[in-house]
Amino acid sequence: MAADWRRDAPDLMIALDRTGAPLGLQIQEQLRVAIREGRLLGGERLPSTRRLADHLGVSRGTVVEAYEQLVAEGYVDSAVGSGTRVARIPGAERRDRTPAPTAAAPPPRFEIDFEYGIPDLGSVPLRDWVWALGEATRTLPTAGLGDEEPAGSRHLRDVVTAYHRRVRAGCAAADEAVVVGGFRQGLAFTLATLARSGTEVLALEDPGPREHDVIARRAGLTAVPVPVDAEGLDVAALRASQARAVLVTPAHQCPTGVALSPSRRRELVAWAHEVDGVILEDDYDAEFRYDRQAVGSLQGLDPERVFALGSVSKTIAPAIRIGWVLAPPRFVEVLTQEKQLSSRGAPGLDQEALALLVESGRFDRHLRRVRDLYRTRRDALAQEVAAVFGPDRLEGLAAGCHTVLLLPLDVDEDAVVEAARSLGVHVTGLRRYRLTERPAQPALLLAFGNLSEHQLVRGVHAIAEAVRRSQPRKGRRDASAGPSARPAAGAASH
Ligand SMILES: Cc1ncc(COP(=O)(O)O)c(C=O)c1O
Repeated sequence: MAADWRRDAPDLMIALDRTGAPLGLQIQEQLRVAIREGRLLGGERLPSTRRLADHLGVSRGTVVEAYEQLVAEGYVDSAVGSGTRVARIPGAERRDRTPAPTAAAPPPRFEIDFEYGIPDLGSVPLRDWVWALGEATRTLPTAGLGDEEPAGSRHLRDVVTAYHRRVRAGCAAADEAVVVGGFRQGLAFTLATLARSGTEVLALEDPGPREHDVIARRAGLTAVPVPVDAEGLDVAALRASQARAVLVTPAHQCPTGVALSPSRRRELVAWAHEVDGVILEDDYDAEFRYDRQAVGSLQGLDPERVFALGSVSKTIAPAIRIGWVLAPPRFVEVLTQEKQLSSRGAPGLDQEALALLVESGRFDRHLRRVRDLYRTRRDALAQEVAAVFGPDRLEGLAAGCHTVLLLPLDVDEDAVVEAARSLGVHVTGLRRYRLTERPAQPALLLAFGNLSEHQLVRGVHAIAEAVRRSQPRKGRRDASAGPSARPAAGAASH
């Protein structure tokens, strides 16, 4: 029967004082108060009289009488077939349920949303996930339902490090992996670990997500911005900073989209040796490289100095958000302690399911499918932008699910964002990612992973209209005719 699960009556928190007032009266009063205070909401089902009587150790007649009294007073309704339910009393639900005035409003919904970081949600392999969860539930030994190993499921650590060696040219062993709840949590634990080992300054790519600056400060570190240019992180500028730790996105810089060039990769590793420092590699978007073979993880180049941080938020879905930190061996113990102090870890069944998903080949199959899909979307976006804005306006197209659109020099980035918003399109200006104020060509970050080709085409036209509306009146031109002086690639911010 489809609705069978509903028939199991809910339990209810009622504490009886057997030395006090008659038990029936106590039941009535506690239910009245719970309903008045909004702890029991209109429409909620009460336990059956038999269940509640068993639960409280009183006679069924006592509960029947209490319910009848509450029906008579209008607190509850009783109907054959649907049991006894809390009546809807105006005002009763207000107390607890009104959101606090300071609660953040839900984000507005846009017809076309170019926000980055969301994979194609329609492609999330839910069937495979259900299969994997089913297998995990069926095969996990009973002992596996207890507390996991401190660093996370051994099975998942085996599978993730094997995957990283196979696909990302890494070289971490399972003992060097710590399972976390996504990249960001892994970053927080890693920074806490570094702070405990005496690191004081963390270099961050500029532009880059501003939240990383906040996370660094919360870990007690000082963050210093280091510019990114057409080859990725400027290692000479890094050398000039006081930092001995750096967070980088070598595979697809967030947000400019440039890949760290081979010479910069070597320079970066050399820098880490020179200063006896560490590199935190956010292996972000590495799976989605379209025109050439993917570039391996930095961790494979220098496992003693590189922490590789990864997660399935982009490869599967943010809703799964299991991640890992592959740490240099000397940091693993403290990193594991940091994880233990803050949480006992990601849900064990999900970890087992992810291990099975990867092991069974379903994860790789999913990646092959979405890589093709993203390539098609990227091409559709590039084609439309070229048609509407002219050539060479997009940067960072080689990998990942977002690109940067260079805007004409005479428009204000914020004005374009606002005008687009009024047209039902959400885009982000690169300004939001700049850690330092510098003159920069206006530019937008456009993510294409979760938009259909049709939406991409419409979105590009809406942005063109937004640009037109934002251009100075005098000499207002077609968006494509705006000055397109191109700074170095990736340097929309410099
Ligand atoms: C630069 C960057 N790295 C990694 C991630 C993945 O983070 P998480 O695993 O916490 O969802 C994101 C998410 O948007 C990101 O922006």
